[in-house]
Amino acid sequence: MIKPLKKAIFPVGGLGTRFLPATKSMPKEMLTVVDKPLIQYAVEEAYAAGIEEIIFVTGRGKSALEDHFDHSYELEDTLTRRGKKPELELLKKMLPVPGNIAYVRQQEPQGLGHAVWCARNLIGDEAVAVLLADDLVHGDVACLKQMADTYRQVGGNIIAVMEVPHEHTSRYGILKPGADKGKLVEVQGLVEKPSPDKAPSDLAVIGRYILQPEVFAHLAAQEPGAGGEIQLTDSMARMIGQVPFHGFRFEGKRYDCGDKAGFIEANMALGVAHPILGKSVRQAVADIARTLKL
Ligand code: UTP
Repeated sequence: MIKPLKKAIFPVGGLGTRFLPATKSMPKEMLTVVDKPLIQYAVEEAYAAGIEEIIFVTGRGKSALEDHFDHSYELEDTLTRRGKKPELELLKKMLPVPGNIAYVRQQEPQGLGHAVWCARNLIGDEAVAVLLADDLVHGDVACLKQMADTYRQVGGNIIAVMEVPHEHTSRYGILKPGADKGKLVEVQGLVEKPSPDKAPSDLAVIGRYILQPEVFAHLAAQEPGAGGEIQLTDSMARMIGQVPFHGFRFEGKRYDCGDKAGFIEANMALGVAHPILGKSVRQAVADIARTLKL
């Protein structure tokens, strides 16, 4: 039987050291691409996939995130008095249903696997989605929706994968592929950040996962892995052969917004695609390209 998928975990407890000084007092996930923080893109993607309950795994200094998904009475009052109805609507629309949003504190940033494990008591015997908000996926159909639609047919673990240049394998978790069925690729193995000569393929795992609840038992038993952190990849690797396990070639473009250059690229790409700002952003990008003689 395919277990229901109604809950999503958003691990937001990382330190964001690659993005200092911006992330000294502000969570990385609150960085803004065009006009929305990264975390809001991820939450909207989860809702598009039919997710009903959202769980943030936070850490110290992350209160801006909680405030973002709550009322701001002073602001709402000012907007009301000034008759700014569209802005008020915008704020109202993004408020989660009361009781369908939860926060768990990861007291120490011991790694992504540890962050996911911190949410274990809120999941029960159901599948769960995990979304890393600093991986922004832009496309016609939300990445997690593509995955969830497939999950509801095939079950098991499904993780989003994309082809990367061979020399970049050491930046990602890399999949050892089994039977390749096009969009779905059977997972035979997973290796965290292998050097190009040890990489079993060029298929890299990105920050979208649908996982069976057994993952929590593996995480509980796990010792720290690469970089001294508790890695989600290691626990997922232990599930190979125990549940159906597929990589999913999603449609869309992924931007690594935890990295400064990736973040700037995302702002340009989504700026150009923006229905209102697009024209002027395109003009600005063209001007820069002309000045630089690109
Ligand atoms: P990263 O590997 O990007 O680490 O985490 P980081 O600490 O956020 O950033 P850098 O590398 O220092 O710049 C991937 C995801 O896992 C979460 C992060 O918030 C991010 O969404 N994470 C990571 C946690 O929630 N807890 C952790 O202990 C580590």
